[in-house]
Amino acid sequence: MPYTLNQFCDDAHALLKSQPLAEALPKAAERLSQLLLNPDFVAETFSDDTPVGRRELFHDPELDFYVLAHVQEGGKTGKPHSHGSSWAIYGNARNLTEMTEYRRVNPELEENVVLEPSSKYALRPGQTHAYGPGVIHSTAHPEKAWVIRVTGTDLDKLPRYHLRKQDRVLEKA
Ligand SMILES: [Fe+2]
Repeated sequence: MPYTLNQFCDDAHALLKSQPLAEALPKAAERLSQLLLNPDFVAETFSDDTPVGRRELFHDPELDFYVLAHVQEGGKTGKPHSHGSSWAIYGNARNLTEMTEYRRVNPELEENVVLEPSSKYALRPGQTHAYGPGVIHSTAHPEKAWVIRVTGTDLDKLPRYHLRKQDRVLEKA
């Protein structure tokens, strides 16, 4: 039986409710991979004329997590950011997300932030990755991509880290 959005939402709820976040997140990311590998789910969620932008597929009223469908425009590179106190899981349904994670290399007491890339990898169809609170990352989409993102809360309401003018990224290797 193909794995459906409803099953994913139920499983994510059960995992997040019963296990510590550090254990629940990678398991929920595995479930998201199963969902992304269900062609019926992908076909119900995206089509070639789905406009660039995001849509809410599900909101868990008790735990407050969201399942969001994003159509990412091709040729775009995002800036480093974190989701503050929230976690997130990213996964691709079509084409790829180039992901970079960063570490801060200067003392927390300094006002400016100096970042260094700590890992780089691609998320391709069916591949997912979980990010705990405060993980600084950036995404790039060389081509138009279909992405599912699960977020721990409504990120628009949360203070988050964004790269500012005084901040620096040491190298783009
Ligand atoms: Fe992000």
